[in-house]
Amino acid sequence: MNKVYFIGAGPGDADFLTLKGARLLERCATVFVPTPFEQTFVEHLGGKELLIPFNYYFDELITLIRQRLEAGEVAFLVPGDLTFYSPFQALIDALGEVAEVIAGVGTANVASAWLKKTLDLPGVCNRAIIASPRTLGDGESSPTIGDLASPGVTLLIYMNNIPLAELVAQLRSGYGCSVPIVIAHRLGLPGEEVVRGSLDDIVEKVGGRDFFNLAVPKSRPALTLVLVGETLDATVDGGWWDYRREHIWKYREEA
Ligand SMILES: C[S@@+](CC[C@H](N)C(=O)[O-])C[C@H]1O[C@@H](n2cnc3c(N)ncnc32)[C@H](O)[C@@H]1O
Repeated sequence: MNKVYFIGAGPGDADFLTLKGARLLERCATVFVPTPFEQTFVEHLGGKELLIPFNYYFDELITLIRQRLEAGEVAFLVPGDLTFYSPFQALIDALGEVAEVIAGVGTANVASAWLKKTLDLPGVCNRAIIASPRTLGDGESSPTIGDLASPGVTLLIYMNNIPLAELVAQLRSGYGCSVPIVIAHRLGLPGEEVVRGSLDDIVEKVGGRDFFNLAVPKSRPALTLVLVGETLDATVDGGWWDYRREHIWKYREEA
């Protein structure tokens, strides 16, 4: 049975494609490719039929996929991967056992690597929250980003649509003070830019740059991830390691 592979493609750079993803992609004659992956994955897409998934309504897309499946296997390049904020779930559900999902490198993983920071750190951060103001809802009882922000939380904000000064004000009310914030724009893509600062100075550091496509009405969400929280600036010394060695790992070794 021919399959449709929903391949986690990473945030943009084809180097983040997994070996499994690359192997399966090679087998597919038709590939659904969101922009800008047709450019960054050009070396993997030669000789294939390339289609943009967002150019079709759902039923058209299902018909198209089923037609192509008669001739061979089909791939979707999934930005990041399916884990968070991926629009492909309805397709996967409709295709049933014909659909296979291939894990990939999410934007959060690439941001953590870029910053060389784990996003949780005992004693500094005890939870990480992934959220987007676009999906929190706008009813009176819907939570805001400010409600999610609090000391000990690392926040990863996808698809931000709140003007930066307003976002910072919400974050400050939640954290109760200035904490580190990072604006990671176009990770792994041409034009990559990462601005690091604190709630005190990030608005000034960003200046007039529109990292969230807010100046262009109805534009797609910008390829910008916001990370906030104490762990972004924290450092740990070897005492952390030795404590675990003494109290936890040693006993596992002996068991
Ligand atoms: C529809 S979501 C897709 C997330 C994707 N499924 C993932 O796992 O990373 C799009 C949002 O992901 C983030 N994003 C995706 N690609 C990015 C990149 N190259 N650099 C920074 N943020 C990115 C941005 O917040 C963007 O608005």
